[in-house]
Amino acid sequence: MSTDAHSGTIRDEFAHQADSFTRSAAMSLAETLGAVVELVPEDPEARWVEVACGPGLIARAMAPRVGTVIGLDLTPAMIDKARADAAEAGVANVSFDLGDATALDLPDDSLDGAITRFSLHHIPAPIRVLEEMRRVVKPGGLVVVADHVTDDDGAAAAWHEEIERLRDPSHWACLTPSRIADLAARAGLERDEERVRPFSIDYAEWLHRGSGGPANEALIERLLSEAPSSVESFRVTGPDEDRRLNLRNSLHRWRVP
Ligand SMILES: C[S@@+](CC[C@H](N)C(=O)[O-])C[C@H]1O[C@@H](n2cnc3c(N)ncnc32)[C@H](O)[C@@H]1O
Repeated sequence: MSTDAHSGTIRDEFAHQADSFTRSAAMSLAETLGAVVELVPEDPEARWVEVACGPGLIARAMAPRVGTVIGLDLTPAMIDKARADAAEAGVANVSFDLGDATALDLPDDSLDGAITRFSLHHIPAPIRVLEEMRRVVKPGGLVVVADHVTDDDGAAAAWHEEIERLRDPSHWACLTPSRIADLAARAGLERDEERVRPFSIDYAEWLHRGSGGPANEALIERLLSEAPSSVESFRVTGPDEDRRLNLRNSLHRWRVP
Protein backbone atom coordinates (compact mmCIF):
# COMPACT_ATOMS: atom_id res chain seq x y z
CA MET A 1 0.00 0.00 0.00
CA SER A 2 1.39 3.45 -0.87
CA THR A 3 1.55 6.01 1.91
CA ASP A 4 -1.09 8.06 -0.01
CA ALA A 5 -3.45 5.09 0.08
CA HIS A 6 -2.69 4.72 3.77
CA SER A 7 -3.60 8.40 4.34
CA GLY A 8 -7.02 7.62 2.83
CA THR A 9 -7.42 4.70 5.24
CA ILE A 10 -6.46 7.01 8.14
CA ARG A 11 -9.06 9.61 7.14
CA ASP A 12 -11.80 6.98 6.78
CA GLU A 13 -10.97 5.34 10.12
CA PHE A 14 -10.80 8.56 12.09
CA ALA A 15 -13.93 10.02 10.50
CA HIS A 16 -15.55 6.81 11.80
CA GLN A 17 -13.97 7.28 15.27
CA ALA A 18 -14.19 11.09 15.68
CA ASP A 19 -16.99 10.93 18.29
CA SER A 20 -16.28 7.56 19.89
CA PHE A 21 -12.56 8.31 20.32
CA THR A 22 -13.38 11.57 22.10
CA ARG A 23 -15.87 9.87 24.42
CA SER A 24 -13.64 6.86 25.18
CA ALA A 25 -12.65 6.70 28.85
CA ALA A 26 -9.38 5.09 27.70
CA MET A 27 -8.22 8.44 26.28
CA SER A 28 -8.61 10.38 29.52
CA LEU A 29 -6.97 8.11 32.11
CA ALA A 30 -4.19 9.36 34.38
CA GLU A 31 -1.81 6.94 32.58
CA THR A 32 -2.80 8.05 29.06
CA LEU A 33 -3.61 11.76 29.46
CA GLY A 34 -2.29 13.07 32.78
CA ALA A 35 1.07 11.35 32.37
CA VAL A 36 1.57 12.97 28.97
CA VAL A 37 0.52 16.46 30.02
CA GLU A 38 2.86 16.28 33.05
CA LEU A 39 5.78 16.19 30.60
CA VAL A 40 4.89 19.72 29.41
CA PRO A 41 6.54 22.34 31.67
CA GLU A 42 4.45 25.28 32.81
CA ASP A 43 5.42 28.34 30.75
CA PRO A 44 2.76 30.91 29.85
CA GLU A 45 4.89 32.21 26.97
CA ALA A 46 5.54 28.83 25.33
CA ARG A 47 4.18 28.04 21.86
CA TRP A 48 3.55 24.33 21.19
CA VAL A 49 2.28 22.20 18.31
CA GLU A 50 0.37 18.95 18.80
CA VAL A 51 0.78 16.78 15.70
CA ALA A 52 -1.83 14.15 14.78
CA CYS A 53 -3.98 15.86 17.42
CA GLY A 54 -7.24 14.03 16.71
CA PRO A 55 -10.06 15.73 18.65
CA GLY A 56 -7.56 17.86 20.59
CA LEU A 57 -7.78 16.10 23.97
CA ILE A 58 -4.07 16.67 24.66
CA ALA A 59 -4.09 20.24 23.31
CA ARG A 60 -7.00 21.17 25.57
CA ALA A 61 -5.52 19.44 28.62
CA MET A 62 -2.14 21.15 28.26
CA ALA A 63 -3.58 24.56 27.33
CA PRO A 64 -3.54 25.94 30.93
CA ARG A 65 0.21 25.20 31.19
CA VAL A 66 1.39 27.03 28.04
CA GLY A 67 0.85 30.14 25.93
CA THR A 68 -0.67 28.59 22.79
CA VAL A 69 -1.14 25.19 21.16
CA ILE A 70 -1.66 24.60 17.43
CA GLY A 71 -3.22 21.18 16.74
CA LEU A 72 -2.70 19.56 13.33
CA ASP A 73 -4.32 16.40 11.96
CA LEU A 74 -4.80 14.63 8.63
CA THR A 75 -8.50 13.90 9.21
CA PRO A 76 -10.98 16.74 8.54
CA ALA A 77 -13.62 15.18 10.84
CA MET A 78 -11.13 15.25 13.73
CA ILE A 79 -10.27 18.91 13.13
CA ASP A 80 -13.99 19.83 13.06
CA LYS A 81 -14.46 17.94 16.34
CA ALA A 82 -11.38 19.54 17.94
CA ARG A 83 -12.57 23.06 17.03
CA ALA A 84 -16.12 22.43 18.25
CA ASP A 85 -15.03 20.87 21.56
CA ALA A 86 -12.49 23.61 22.31
CA ALA A 87 -15.12 26.28 21.59
CA GLU A 88 -17.66 24.51 23.80
CA ALA A 89 -15.10 24.21 26.62
CA GLY A 90 -14.13 27.88 26.24
CA VAL A 91 -10.45 27.08 25.70
CA ALA A 92 -9.21 30.11 23.78
CA ASN A 93 -5.45 29.50 23.41
CA VAL A 94 -5.74 26.45 21.11
CA SER A 95 -6.33 26.38 17.35
CA PHE A 96 -6.69 23.48 14.93
CA ASP A 97 -5.86 22.93 11.25
CA LEU A 98 -5.38 20.19 8.73
CA GLY A 99 -1.75 19.08 8.57
CA ASP A 100 0.46 16.07 7.89
CA ALA A 101 2.75 15.08 10.78
CA THR A 102 5.34 13.82 8.28
CA ALA A 103 5.51 17.14 6.37
CA LEU A 104 4.64 20.02 8.70
CA ASP A 105 3.79 23.35 7.09
CA LEU A 106 5.67 25.24 9.82
CA PRO A 107 9.01 27.09 9.72
CA ASP A 108 12.22 25.67 11.19
CA ASP A 109 12.96 26.53 14.86
CA SER A 110 9.61 28.29 15.27
CA LEU A 111 8.13 26.66 18.42
CA ASP A 112 9.06 25.85 22.03
CA GLY A 113 7.69 22.33 21.95
CA ALA A 114 6.03 19.61 19.89
CA ILE A 115 3.90 16.77 21.24
CA THR A 116 2.05 13.74 19.92
CA ARG A 117 0.18 10.83 21.53
CA PHE A 118 -1.07 7.51 20.07
CA SER A 119 -0.04 8.48 16.55
CA LEU A 120 3.31 6.84 15.67
CA HIS A 121 1.70 3.40 15.33
CA HIS A 122 -0.52 4.71 12.52
CA ILE A 123 2.31 6.24 10.50
CA PRO A 124 4.60 4.53 7.96
CA ALA A 125 8.24 5.40 8.69
CA PRO A 126 7.53 7.24 11.99
CA ILE A 127 11.06 8.66 12.03
CA ARG A 128 9.67 11.29 9.63
CA VAL A 129 7.40 12.57 12.41
CA LEU A 130 10.27 12.82 14.90
CA GLU A 131 12.45 14.61 12.32
CA GLU A 132 9.66 17.09 11.61
CA MET A 133 9.01 17.73 15.31
CA ARG A 134 12.70 18.30 15.82
CA ARG A 135 12.88 20.63 12.79
CA VAL A 136 10.10 22.98 13.94
CA VAL A 137 11.22 23.20 17.60
CA LYS A 138 13.89 25.73 18.60
CA PRO A 139 17.21 24.56 20.04
CA GLY A 140 16.65 23.97 23.76
CA GLY A 141 12.96 23.19 23.20
CA LEU A 142 11.14 19.91 23.89
CA VAL A 143 9.66 17.04 21.89
CA VAL A 144 7.19 14.79 23.74
CA VAL A 145 5.85 11.48 22.41
CA ALA A 146 3.59 8.87 23.99
CA ASP A 147 2.40 5.72 22.28
CA HIS A 148 1.21 2.27 23.22
CA VAL A 149 3.88 -0.22 22.42
CA THR A 150 4.52 -3.85 21.57
CA ASP A 151 6.94 -6.50 22.82
CA ASP A 152 10.59 -7.03 21.91
CA ASP A 153 9.79 -10.71 21.30
CA GLY A 154 9.09 -11.19 17.57
CA ALA A 155 6.33 -13.81 17.92
CA ALA A 156 4.48 -11.71 20.50
CA ALA A 157 4.80 -8.55 18.40
CA ALA A 158 3.58 -10.27 15.18
CA TRP A 159 0.56 -11.76 16.98
CA HIS A 160 -0.25 -8.36 18.55
CA GLU A 161 -0.09 -6.60 15.13
CA GLU A 162 -2.48 -9.11 13.55
CA ILE A 163 -5.13 -8.28 16.14
CA GLU A 164 -4.57 -4.51 15.92
CA ARG A 165 -4.89 -4.50 12.12
CA LEU A 166 -8.03 -6.61 12.11
CA ARG A 167 -9.62 -4.21 14.57
CA ASP A 168 -8.41 -0.96 12.88
CA PRO A 169 -7.21 -0.99 9.26
CA SER A 170 -5.37 2.33 9.81
CA HIS A 171 -3.04 0.66 12.32
CA TRP A 172 0.47 0.43 10.80
CA ALA A 173 2.85 -0.97 13.45
CA CYS A 174 3.31 -0.56 17.19
CA LEU A 175 6.92 0.17 18.09
CA THR A 176 8.82 -0.96 21.19
CA PRO A 177 10.09 1.59 23.74
CA SER A 178 13.66 0.95 22.60
CA ARG A 179 12.71 1.39 18.92
CA ILE A 180 11.11 4.77 19.72
CA ALA A 181 14.27 5.80 21.60
CA ASP A 182 16.44 4.65 18.70
CA LEU A 183 14.40 6.59 16.10
CA ALA A 184 14.59 9.71 18.25
CA ALA A 185 18.36 9.43 18.54
CA ARG A 186 18.55 9.05 14.75
CA ALA A 187 16.37 12.16 14.39
CA GLY A 188 18.96 14.06 16.46
CA LEU A 189 16.96 14.36 19.70
CA GLU A 190 18.59 14.20 23.14
CA ARG A 191 16.93 12.02 25.78
CA ASP A 192 15.47 13.92 28.74
CA GLU A 193 12.85 11.58 30.31
CA GLU A 194 11.53 8.13 29.50
CA ARG A 195 9.07 5.83 31.28
CA VAL A 196 6.53 3.12 30.57
CA ARG A 197 3.07 3.29 32.21
CA PRO A 198 0.86 0.19 32.06
CA PHE A 199 -2.84 0.96 31.61
CA SER A 200 -6.05 -1.00 31.48
CA ILE A 201 -9.12 -0.26 29.33
CA ASP A 202 -12.53 -1.74 28.55
CA TYR A 203 -11.88 -4.47 25.94
CA ALA A 204 -15.39 -4.40 24.40
CA GLU A 205 -15.30 -0.61 24.00
CA TRP A 206 -11.85 -0.81 22.36
CA LEU A 207 -12.92 -3.62 20.00
CA HIS A 208 -16.11 -1.93 18.84
CA ARG A 209 -14.55 1.53 18.40
CA GLY A 210 -12.32 0.27 15.57
CA SER A 211 -14.12 -0.01 12.22
CA GLY A 212 -12.87 -3.60 11.75
CA GLY A 213 -13.71 -4.79 15.25
CA PRO A 214 -17.35 -5.90 14.88
CA ALA A 215 -16.78 -7.73 11.55
CA ASN A 216 -13.59 -9.43 12.74
CA GLU A 217 -14.66 -10.23 16.31
CA ALA A 218 -14.67 -14.03 15.82
CA LEU A 219 -11.23 -14.04 14.18
CA ILE A 220 -9.81 -11.79 16.90
CA GLU A 221 -11.31 -14.13 19.51
CA ARG A 222 -9.51 -17.04 17.90
CA LEU A 223 -6.21 -15.15 17.94
CA LEU A 224 -6.72 -14.26 21.61
CA SER A 225 -7.05 -17.95 22.41
CA GLU A 226 -3.71 -18.56 20.67
CA ALA A 227 -1.67 -15.85 22.44
CA PRO A 228 2.05 -16.63 22.61
CA SER A 229 3.22 -17.08 26.20
CA SER A 230 5.80 -14.29 25.66
CA VAL A 231 3.13 -11.55 25.24
CA GLU A 232 3.37 -8.73 27.79
CA SER A 233 2.15 -5.60 25.99
CA PHE A 234 -1.34 -6.74 24.90
CA ARG A 235 -3.20 -8.91 27.43
CA VAL A 236 -6.94 -9.46 27.71
CA THR A 237 -8.02 -10.43 31.25
CA GLY A 238 -11.13 -10.70 33.41
CA PRO A 239 -14.56 -12.36 33.17
CA ASP A 240 -16.52 -12.35 29.87
CA GLU A 241 -18.87 -9.59 31.07
CA ASP A 242 -16.01 -7.26 32.09
CA ARG A 243 -12.94 -7.98 30.01
CA ARG A 244 -10.00 -5.63 30.34
CA LEU A 245 -7.33 -4.91 27.74
CA ASN A 246 -3.96 -4.29 29.40
CA LEU A 247 -1.54 -2.19 27.37
CA ARG A 248 1.69 -0.22 27.95
CA ASN A 249 2.10 3.51 27.25
CA SER A 250 5.68 4.49 26.44
CA LEU A 251 6.33 8.14 27.37
CA HIS A 252 9.32 10.07 26.05
CA ARG A 253 10.61 13.61 26.35
CA TRP A 254 13.64 14.80 24.41
CA ARG A 255 15.47 18.09 24.09
CA VAL A 256 16.38 19.66 20.76
CA PRO A 257 20.15 20.30 20.77
C1 LIG B 1 -5.44 7.36 17.70
S1 LIG B 1 -5.73 8.98 17.12
C2 LIG B 1 -4.88 9.96 18.36
C3 LIG B 1 -5.40 11.38 18.47
C4 LIG B 1 -4.67 12.24 19.49
N1 LIG B 1 -3.26 12.29 19.21
C5 LIG B 1 -4.90 11.75 20.89
O1 LIG B 1 -4.11 10.95 21.39
O2 LIG B 1 -5.89 12.18 21.52
C6 LIG B 1 -4.59 9.09 15.77
C7 LIG B 1 -4.73 10.38 15.00
O3 LIG B 1 -3.58 10.48 14.13
C8 LIG B 1 -4.01 11.12 12.95
N2 LIG B 1 -2.99 10.87 11.92
C9 LIG B 1 -2.55 9.69 11.44
N3 LIG B 1 -1.56 9.88 10.54
C10 LIG B 1 -1.35 11.23 10.49
C11 LIG B 1 -0.44 12.05 9.76
N4 LIG B 1 0.47 11.56 8.91
N5 LIG B 1 -0.50 13.38 9.97
C12 LIG B 1 -1.40 13.91 10.83
N6 LIG B 1 -2.30 13.19 11.51
C13 LIG B 1 -2.27 11.86 11.35
C14 LIG B 1 -5.37 10.52 12.68
O4 LIG B 1 -6.13 11.29 11.79
C15 LIG B 1 -5.96 10.47 14.09
O5 LIG B 1 -6.68 11.64 14.39
